[in-house]
Amino acid sequence: MKVNKNVIALREALGAQVVTLPEEFGERRVEDWSGLPGATPLAIIRPRTTEEVAEALAICSKHRQGVVTQGGLTGLVGGANLLGGEVALSLERMNRIVEIDEVSATMTVEAGAPLQVVQDAASAAGFYFPLDLGARGSCTIGGNLATNAGGNRVIKYGMMRDQVLGVEAVLASGEVVGGLSKMIKNNSGYDLRHLLIGSEGTLAVITRVVLRLRPKPTATATAWCGLPDFDAVTTLLTHSQAGLAPGVSAFEVMWAGYHDTVIGNLKNLRAPLADSHPFYVLLESVGTDPVRHGEAFEEFLGGMLEEGVVSDAAIASSEAHARDFWAIRDAPGEYQRFIPNHAAYDVSFSIAQVGDAAAQCEARLRARWPEATVMTYGHLGDGNIHVVVDVPGMGKHEHDDIDRVIYDVTREFEGSISAEHGIGVKKRYFLSQCRREADIDAMRAIKQALDPQGLLNPGKVF
Ligand code: FAD
Ligand code: LAC
Ligand code: ZN
Repeated sequence: MKVNKNVIALREALGAQVVTLPEEFGERRVEDWSGLPGATPLAIIRPRTTEEVAEALAICSKHRQGVVTQGGLTGLVGGANLLGGEVALSLERMNRIVEIDEVSATMTVEAGAPLQVVQDAASAAGFYFPLDLGARGSCTIGGNLATNAGGNRVIKYGMMRDQVLGVEAVLASGEVVGGLSKMIKNNSGYDLRHLLIGSEGTLAVITRVVLRLRPKPTATATAWCGLPDFDAVTTLLTHSQAGLAPGVSAFEVMWAGYHDTVIGNLKNLRAPLADSHPFYVLLESVGTDPVRHGEAFEEFLGGMLEEGVVSDAAIASSEAHARDFWAIRDAPGEYQRFIPNHAAYDVSFSIAQVGDAAAQCEARLRARWPEATVMTYGHLGDGNIHVVVDVPGMGKHEHDDIDRVIYDVTREFEGSISAEHGIGVKKRYFLSQCRREADIDAMRAIKQALDPQGLLNPGKVF
């Protein structure tokens, strides 16, 4: 097989250990979870150090070779997929935890470290790393940063952007920028860290990071609630934020369509409540006093039941019981088993408008496809819902029509077409719907300044 000349240059400089060819990486998966097609890379570069990343990018820059950075490949918008003619750069070998600084409450990691490994290391050191999402076992810190991931605990701790003090990255030219700063305050000019977070691999390759650790909660109370209508859901949200000290750490809402479909299709899941309800909320609150925290939580929920805000509730009696509740919420990881061809959306609105926006989506979908499965659920505390639609036998044409229904509603409610998953290739044609032309021009100017040859993740975001 004829080897591309740019790949030969990379292989000569970095060696066959680091740069592998298609016949060597064989059947390895090179596509993310979006279901969008991805081309086979000309080669996969697997650097072991920041210096090797820098050397690889300097060579790619010299030869005008496009590069797609890959983390755990759990992204949902095709951001890590190749369009054709690029090399892939995987951070899988840069997966070490470099240091935990207990006084500064920081953890320094390489960008290929899986999220769950970081969570576990923080816990073993007596700390808490709060970012959490269903793909925790496979997704990487670099991917979480590149997509500014959100997930289940944003309501209390913020998004990935809020968990990071220092970011070291390599520009397309091979120059290293940023660094492993542990400073909380640093207003010395533009903050490049925040420019790179959420840039989806289009501005730089993130190589090492200083994460901010939080005190470990020593008391967690979790409940599964059934509610009569959406007003009750928002009432529970505002009351729990005001009434549960020191605060709500998760408020995940599931419409009945989601609850009934996942429980009906996944045999390992059990409905926590005997009766059916129009809405379900997984409510979690963390604190430090196991006895008083649990009592206060029960008292609060008792009040909500008395007022009729909550129709029925189950409080987790153990960690295993709480995990059973979370298994229902983590079911999106299992969609491939029963709706492999579904269309999925990640939209956000003001919290007050989520109920009406979701109702509009469902009504318009049902009017057009009465037999559709529609599952709505998400992170209500962040105004972020996911709508998942499956129409029997649907093809590309129906996918496009469903896109239009959801994004029309999103535009009418002045929402965002991407709350937390990013734009990738999947949503780039809709970007102008929720960003001004001048915003997109500014983004292009930044891209031009940092990657003038357009080599990093070509064809993504714009
Ligand atoms: P990849 O998929 O490999 O890459 C994603 C993007 O980041 C690509 O554009 C890639 O080029 C870029 N990239 C990766 N690493 C780097 C790096 N080191 N430097 C520069 N660019 C890089 N997301 C949420 O926000 N909230 C959720 O609740 C959530 N739940 C999920 C549940 C499931 C079951 C799945 C499959 C996904 C979920 N996601 C969620 C999607 C989410 O974006 C990813 O799980 C995660 O953040 C991506 O990490 P990754 O390492 O897999 O990145
Ligand atoms: C979730 C992913 C899909 O919240 O973002 O389940
Ligand atoms: Zn989500």
